This record gives sequence, C-alpha cells and structure tokens, in this order.
Amino acid sequence: MISDHAPAAGARWTARRVARFKLLLFVLCLFPVFRWFFLAGGPEGLGANPPEFLIRSTGIWAMVLLWLTLCVTPLRRLLGQPALVGLRRMLGLFSFFYTALHVLGWAYWERGWSLAEMWADIIQRTFVWVGVLATIPMALLALTSTQGWMRRLGRHWQRLHACIYAIAVLSVWHFWLVRSGKVDYREPVVYAVILAVILLVRFLSGRAKG
Ligand code: HEM
Repeated sequence: MISDHAPAAGARWTARRVARFKLLLFVLCLFPVFRWFFLAGGPEGLGANPPEFLIRSTGIWAMVLLWLTLCVTPLRRLLGQPALVGLRRMLGLFSFFYTALHVLGWAYWERGWSLAEMWADIIQRTFVWVGVLATIPMALLALTSTQGWMRRLGRHWQRLHACIYAIAVLSVWHFWLVRSGKVDYREPVVYAVILAVILLVRFLSGRAKG
C-alpha cells in the first residue's frame, strides 16, 4: 500500500538531508540562467535572434519546473518520504520565476512595454491569452505559497493550490498553439504525455492512501 506514513523503501529522510538536497536543487534550478550567460559569452552568442531564444527558453524552463513541482507529491508517496514536501514550494516558485521572465521578455522585446500593444496581442493571438490565463492563477499561487497564507486560508488553501493542474493543462495548450504555427507538435505531445502520467500516478496514489 502506498501511504504517507509507511515508507516504501529505506529510512525516512531527515530534515537536514532534505535541507542539503534543497540547496543542491536550488543551484540546479539556476542552471538555465548560468547557461544563458555561458552561451552569450561564447562564439555564437544567443543565436541569430537572442530575444526569441530567451522568450522560448524561459517558456520551456517554466514548464520543466512546473512538471517537476507536480512530481513531488506522487514521488513523496511512492518513496514514503513525507519530508520531500519541502521541495514543492521552491520548485513552484522557480517555475513562476521563469514564467515572469518569459512574460517580461514578451512585454519588452515583442511589445516595447506598450500596454495598448500588449492588449492587442492578447485579443488577437489565441496562444497569448491562453498564456495569460495560465499566468494569472500561477501568480496567485506564488503569492499564497507562504506559511502565513496557508494558515489564513486553512482548508481552502489546498483547494486553491489544486489549480496547479489546470495551470499545467493551460500551459500545454499554450505550447501546442505556439507550435501549431510551425506545425511541429512533437514537444507539446511529450509534455502532454508526461503530464497524463503524473496525473495518473497522483490519482492512483491518492486512492491507495484512501
Ligand atoms: C502572459 C502570459 C504569456 C505570454 C504573453 C506568453 C508569450 C509567449 C510567446 C510570445 C512565445 C513565443 C512564440 C513564438 O516563438 O512564436 C511563447 C512561447 C512559449 N511559452 Fe509562453 N507566454 C505566456 C505564458 C506562458 C506560461 C505560463 C508558460 C508555461 C508555464 C509558457 C510556456 C511557453 C512555451 C513552452 C513556449 C514555446 C517555446 C518554444 O517554442 O520552444 N508561456 N510564449
């Protein structure tokens, strides 16, 4: 049986071990930033169109971090390591960090900070408003991810944070629409399949928990 209270394999991780792992993960989450600087200083720089490169790269990393955030609960249950919950908030905030850079990149390079142009883009391009639809609740989850908000919202907090699944679906939809212009659906399909597996494992482990 899969349960929060019955370790499936090995001993439970101590808070100290989780803290050390969290530090390592923090540095790993910054890998994309190091990579951008490394590439920018290299012979090819960030390619022929650096703004496009950065908008795409931040979008991809926002999704990768979001998927990793979603893996924490199923993994914690499967491994019987409740302390892993401590990693979820950090991964979620990193996903929001890359989303914020992604949106700022779009606002600056594509729309020159013009609110009128941003609004026009939102109503003209479907993939943009789907992106906005994913970003607004994401900002809300980041804002309410603190202990203080957890206390204030009580049992509503869990319900609010279950929105992360809808955000993930909207993100895949946004990615799909971006790629539909290029008729290349391979990557969005990979992300959609991984999301389906995460949701299935989450559902099955939740049922086993009872
Ligand atoms: C206000 C919200 C958002 C706006 C305005 C926005 C805008 C954009 C733009 C302009 C592109 C590039 C399209 C192109 O290259 O033709 C893009 C691509 C992308 N965005 Fe967003 N986005 C938003 C939210 C999000 C969110 C929340 C995620 C995921 C968590 C995301 C993930 C991606 C991905 C994965 C790509 C495709 C990268 C690629 O083609 O390699 N975006 N977005």
